Amino acid sequence: MARRMLVAVVALAISAGAAQAQTIKKVPIKRTSPADAKQMFDSYCAVCHGKDGKGTGPAAKALTKAPADLTKISARNGGVFPDVRVKRFIEGLDELPAHGTRDMPMWGELFRSLDRGTDQLRIMGLSEYLKSLQQQ
Ligand code: HEC
Repeated sequence: MARRMLVAVVALAISAGAAQAQTIKKVPIKRTSPADAKQMFDSYCAVCHGKDGKGTGPAAKALTKAPADLTKISARNGGVFPDVRVKRFIEGLDELPAHGTRDMPMWGELFRSLDRGTDQLRIMGLSEYLKSLQQQ
């Protein structure tokens, strides 16, 4: 059976040049445990959102749109964590063609390319993890 190829995650490469130009580099998605949300967050999300979720990962400067501060999702939503919306956003379901391409990868598709049947577990775990990062 042909294996799906695409599977890429963003990583940062800082050029050796004096200007330290930052470029986004796509690399094959790393295997992680679907049960370990922190490992997934650190491997897939921290490059843009930062390990603390505040949006200051090493790749942030190279994006056209700043990565969201993931510790303030509830604060921006009247104190309630919108878990359905968060899960849809992570998966990539809310992407409308009219909006063009978003900077953030569509994780549902990437997770489905990793292994079968664990994508929803991964997305749920990540959403719970983000919920635990919320600050007022
Ligand atoms: C390539 C950089 C990049 C990576 C990697 C990335 N994000 Fe994002 N993320 C963004 C950007 C940029 C936004 C800002 C919103 C937009 O693009 O419309 C965002 C927005 C979000 C939002 C919406 C926040 C809100 O208030 O609505 C969530 C949730 C989110 N990211 C979760 C994640 C998770 C979980 C991962 C890892 C599985 C991840 N992101 C990986 C760039 C990234």
